[in-house]
Order: sequence, then structure tokens, then C-alpha cells
Amino acid sequence: MPDIQLNISSDGYKKIDNNIFYLDNKILEEYENIYNDKKYSDNGYENTSIINDQKDLIKFNNLNKLNQNILSLIKDNKLDNIEFDDIWFVKSVESIYEPKKLPFIPHIDKVRKIKAMVYLNDVTIEDGPLYMAKVDPNNYENFRKELKPDYKKRQENEIKNLKIEDYSPLNGNFGTTIFFDTNAPHFAGKIHNKNSLRKIIRFNFRFKSQNPIKNFFRNLF
Ligand SMILES: [Fe+2]
Repeated sequence: MPDIQLNISSDGYKKIDNNIFYLDNKILEEYENIYNDKKYSDNGYENTSIINDQKDLIKFNNLNKLNQNILSLIKDNKLDNIEFDDIWFVKSVESIYEPKKLPFIPHIDKVRKIKAMVYLNDVTIEDGPLYMAKVDPNNYENFRKELKPDYKKRQENEIKNLKIEDYSPLNGNFGTTIFFDTNAPHFAGKIHNKNSLRKIIRFNFRFKSQNPIKNFFRNLF
């Protein structure tokens, strides 16, 4: 892997074009198998499959390799306090678009994570690209910590102190990968029409717990 500066701690995100992980049709095959497998799609989320258990990764060569490459790129950037959380496989289409609701409004996530979103089709402005604002993610740490347990109901994590022009649409071709800290304001773009599609894999990494008791139990299972 080439040396790539992600600068996530200062900019909040980094988009990398040019299919740096050399993805091809094999990842698409694995994607469809996972997307259509009840084991992963039975999760209450629309148009979404999820791999929760890292052990399942060995069944999917290309996905496993991609996960390793992404993780090592993040760790090479001195974000080494992170570990596997889960992987989402999502097909966003017009019918799930709700303009005034999360994740289609500017927000940060309640649980802070490092995420890597890989586009598996060419995503133009009509396909609902990820939008991100270039800011220091730590600016929003106090705001995040003060979110109430029922924040979701009132969409309390909506970001209101930025203008819509402060966000850039991250268009990209197949293989484009966006690394981001979920503390950087972001939203999913409008999905314009019935031909629009945003097919993605999202690798989610959590910050390792500083709590020794929690760590003890996590290591048991
Ligand atoms: Fe989010």
C-alpha cells in the first residue's frame, strides 16, 4: 500500500479516488451474496446487510483483504486505538429517501467511530453521495457528549451551526473510498430519481474502550 495521509484528526475526512484497493468484480460477487443472505440482512434496517462477527470475514476473501487494507491504512495514520466494530452493505435508492430525517440531514453520530465508505458503483450527484464538512472533529466533542439518551427521537444530533455550502458532495467512481471520523458533520445526499443508486460497503471501527472492566468482558467472548 502506498503511504497516504488521511489527516482525519484535522480535516475530519479524506476521499481517495482511483480504486486504490484494486477492487474488481469479485468484491461485487461477495457483496451480492452477503446482501441477499438472510443471516446478514435480517436486522431491521432497510436495504442493508450487516456483518457483526469478524469470524464471518474469512468466508469472503476479497472482503477480508479489503478490511485488512483499510484497517492498516487507518493505523498507519496513527489512529491505532481502534478495532473492528461491524461492516454494513447498503443499497440506497429513491424509495428510502426522506429529506428531513437522519441520515439525510447534517449530523454527527452519537457513538464516535472511524468509518470507511467504499463506493461499489459510480456515484454522481444524483445518487446521494456522502456530504462532508471539512472541520476539526474535536470541535463537536462537547456537543456529542451532551446528547441525551433519546436524542434520536428529536434528532438532537442535527448540526445547525454550519451552512449547507460548507459541505462538499463526495462524488466518486467505483472503488472510491472515504475515510471519516463520525464527529465531522456529514449527511447522505438526496437520491434524485428511480435510476439513482448508491451501493456501498461501510467498515465501522470503534475506539477501544478505556474501561478495564469492559475490556475484560469483551475479551472473554
Ligand atoms: Fe452518520
